[in-house]
Amino acid sequence: MFLARMNMAGLRPDHDVLDIGCGVGRVARYLCAYLYPSVRYEGFDVMDAAIAWCQENITPAHPNFGFTATPVLNTAYRTDPSLPDAATFRFPYDDASFDFVCAQSVFTHLLPESAENYVREMARVLRPGGISCTTWLWFNDSGYSHPFTEPMERHDTYAVLNPEIPEAAIAYQEDAMRKMFGTGGLVIDGEYPGYERIQDLCVAHKP
Ligand SMILES: C[S@@+](CC[C@H](N)C(=O)[O-])C[C@H]1O[C@@H](n2cnc3c(N)ncnc32)[C@H](O)[C@@H]1O
Repeated sequence: MFLARMNMAGLRPDHDVLDIGCGVGRVARYLCAYLYPSVRYEGFDVMDAAIAWCQENITPAHPNFGFTATPVLNTAYRTDPSLPDAATFRFPYDDASFDFVCAQSVFTHLLPESAENYVREMARVLRPGGISCTTWLWFNDSGYSHPFTEPMERHDTYAVLNPEIPEAAIAYQEDAMRKMFGTGGLVIDGEYPGYERIQDLCVAHKP
């Protein structure tokens, strides 16, 4: 389903792709069959074991698929407080390296300053005209809220499911997300509400 959503966003098989918070390769395993072997796919994640699994099970058969462990603090996924902060983390890739950047169910685990930084970093690593395809949980003042947000504790521009582990699940006011993209240097092309287990989707591009 996410591959279909990425296609709708403009993904082509000749795109160099960055997969933020790639986990155990749930997206990568489909992109293996979709992307041309000549293009570059990179995934990174804070969980070492997930990255090791991808390196051992995906890269040998698809050498153009690279995976990098990026130990960064996350109160749900990587809890060592001595780790660097996601709010200042620089993605380990050069400027303008990718045509397409995706993050499935990752901004739903980032607090506002980290989410702002990740949008800025997406803009930095995308080539001009490059596309970002990211999932979120939204609520807005016009009456829409993703069903997952209903039990959440509302703060100003965001809401959390568990205040003790805020990054376990985070929703954003839709306007706050739009502001992040505007200040981060990406232009939103489409917002597609989800339902039940399907998260809300934001498609944007770098001018
Ligand atoms: C719900 S999982 C989604 C994984 C994958 N995108 C998928 O769709 O299967 C959230 C992922 O985000 C990763 N993550 C959490 N904080 C992160 C951060 N600051 N930078 C990169 N990845 C992060 C987690 O380790 C986890 O793999």
